[in-house]
Amino acid sequence: SAAEKDGHDWFMRKEIFEQPRAVADSLLGRRSTSGLLQLDEMRLSDDEIRDIDKIIIIAAGTSFYAGMVAKYAIEHWTRIPVEVELSSEFRYRDPILDHSTLVVAISQSGETADTLQAIRHARSQRSKVLAICNTNGSTIPRESDAVIYTHAGPEIGVASTKGFLTQLVACYLLALYVAQVKGTRFGDEIEEVMSQLEAMPDHIATVLAGAEQVYDLARAHTGTRSVLFLGRHAGYPVALEGALKLKEIAYLHAEGFAAGELKHGPIALVEQGLPVLCVVPPRGRDQLHEKMISGIQEVRARGAQTICLAEEGDTRIEPYADVLIRLPKVPVLLQPLVAVVPLQLFACELATALGHDVDQPRNLAKSVTVE
Ligand code: G6P
Repeated sequence: SAAEKDGHDWFMRKEIFEQPRAVADSLLGRRSTSGLLQLDEMRLSDDEIRDIDKIIIIAAGTSFYAGMVAKYAIEHWTRIPVEVELSSEFRYRDPILDHSTLVVAISQSGETADTLQAIRHARSQRSKVLAICNTNGSTIPRESDAVIYTHAGPEIGVASTKGFLTQLVACYLLALYVAQVKGTRFGDEIEEVMSQLEAMPDHIATVLAGAEQVYDLARAHTGTRSVLFLGRHAGYPVALEGALKLKEIAYLHAEGFAAGELKHGPIALVEQGLPVLCVVPPRGRDQLHEKMISGIQEVRARGAQTICLAEEGDTRIEPYADVLIRLPKVPVLLQPLVAVVPLQLFACELATALGHDVDQPRNLAKSVTVE
């Protein structure tokens, strides 16, 4: 009923709008009075953490994209090499695992068969397994050595939204925690990032307040047959997730690319009027922002309609954006938390306008318990 959905038409839309609270809840109680990061459900000793020389993240679907973002954060803050792999591929390549490998399994439901089989394999090779999960007492956390629970609340829409954002939060917490234990990052820096994270619920609310602009855009695209998404760095998995959302609920052909790969193939797809959603990295000391702009210029010169998600105050992007969606100013590693939100809104509204059942998309299940 409408009441269960807080007056929204779909659980998915309700869950998108719950994200500020879900993110806030997932951050709650993570700092001790002394300011140190604490993870109650961690169950790995400091010695075990100091022993880790490689991290392998395994997940499926949207959770896999959270894992891709996590790789950027974990490597940056901890200097431990991270691999990210689809659960369904992991076991079959005979991965190199030992007691100093930490396997991180990300699963909203905690029941995905591919991920469960993958952690069983990892543990049989003496690796430690940490689960990031939204479902208390589900199978994957029960079979893991440690767990970080996300606090999204029950997610009903088949296409994951608040599950994804809270997984990102858990991944950032894990990265900072390992950095704290290993001493690769120090108190003041960890505190600074924690404060930035604690500001995210307000930033997400700001993006949600601009939903109408995104809805208009979505309704203008009901005749579109294909949509491309571009991103770089932490914005690359966001592009992949934006494309996945459109496939899942709008049944549209959509693909995400790393903007730097355009010239190696995808640019050949660009034709007059093709919508290209671009996740523009914040302006920083690196070359990312400029490199992204050159990619946007390339597709625009070939007739693409460029829809750019760029931070407040970024005027440099203006001449290259046919449509500009503003994002709050946040650090590049945390940008996925705000950048993915307009993409969720876009898919939800476009699917609604096309008359699809957003909560129960054809052929898909909320949790896939068969391999
Ligand atoms: C299914 C769902 C997706 C989800 C994926 C992984 O395919 O439809 O929304 O991302 O499973 O689920 P998990 O519960 O393991 O995160």
